Amino acid sequence: MEPNQDDDDAGVDESSPQEEMITTSTHHFGDGDDAFSVTIIESMKEEYGLFVWPCSIILAEYVWQQRSRFSGANVIELGAGTSLPGIVAAKVGADVTLTDDSNRPEVLDNMRRECELNNVTCKVLGLTWGVWDEPIFTLCPNIILGADVLYETSAFDDLFAAVAYLLQNSPSSVFITAYHNRSGHHLIEFLMVKWGLKCMKLLDGFSFMPADKASGLSGNIQLVEIILDNDKLS
Ligand SMILES: C[S@@+](CC[C@H](N)C(=O)[O-])C[C@H]1O[C@@H](n2cnc3c(N)ncnc32)[C@H](O)[C@@H]1O
Repeated sequence: MEPNQDDDDAGVDESSPQEEMITTSTHHFGDGDDAFSVTIIESMKEEYGLFVWPCSIILAEYVWQQRSRFSGANVIELGAGTSLPGIVAAKVGADVTLTDDSNRPEVLDNMRRECELNNVTCKVLGLTWGVWDEPIFTLCPNIILGADVLYETSAFDDLFAAVAYLLQNSPSSVFITAYHNRSGHHLIEFLMVKWGLKCMKLLDGFSFMPADKASGLSGNIQLVEIILDNDKLS
C-alpha cells in the first residue's frame, strides 16, 4: 500500500528540524460559487494515520458529489487518519465526529489542527474498533465513513462489530467505505452476512472521479454502501 504522493499542491514545512517531515497537501472541490479547498497535514515519518491514502481522496470526492445527502447529517468517520472525507462532509454542512485509534494521540491531535486550519468544527474522539469502553454508545450517526479501513484482515471483525453496532444504534444509517479490493469482494461479503449487513451500492472507485484527480491514483479501489439487513435481524 502506498500513500498518495500526487496531491495537487504539496509543500514541505521546514520551519523546525523536528517537523521537517511535515507536509501539507491541498485538495480542491467544485469550481462554482460553492467551491472550496481542504488543507491536510501529513507526516512522512508516521505510518498509516498521517498520510492521505488514495481511498480517502476517492471517498472525499464521493462525499462532495453526494453533498446534498450530507448537509445536516450526523456523520462519523472511523479510522479517519488525516480525515479528508470527514472534513469535506463538515464543509458541506454535516455535523461530524472524526475518530481514530485512541492509542494514537498524535493522529487525534493532527485532526484537531486540521479542523482549525480548515475552519470547521468537528468533534474528535478516540474510538478503537473492538474496544467497548468508549463513548461509542452515545453515537447515533446517519452516515458512517471509512476510507482504507479494510486493510488488515485481523482487524476486519473488530471494525465490522463497531460498524454493526453503530448501524443498529441508528437503524436508517449507512456505512460508506472506499477500500482496496486486494483479494476479491468475497471476504467483505462474508463479513456482511456474519454481521447482519447488506450491500446497497458497489462502485468502481474510479468511475466517478474527475480525470485530473484520478490520474494521480492507482489500485483496484471500490466504494461500497452498507446497511443493516433487516431480513436477517427479524
Ligand atoms: C490505512 S489508514 C487510513 C487513514 C485514512 N482513513 C485515509 O484513508 O487516509 C488506516 C487508519 O485506521 C486506523 N486504525 C487502525 N486500526 C484501528 C483500530 N483498531 N481502531 C481504530 N482505528 C484504527 C489507523 O490509525 C489509520 O488512521
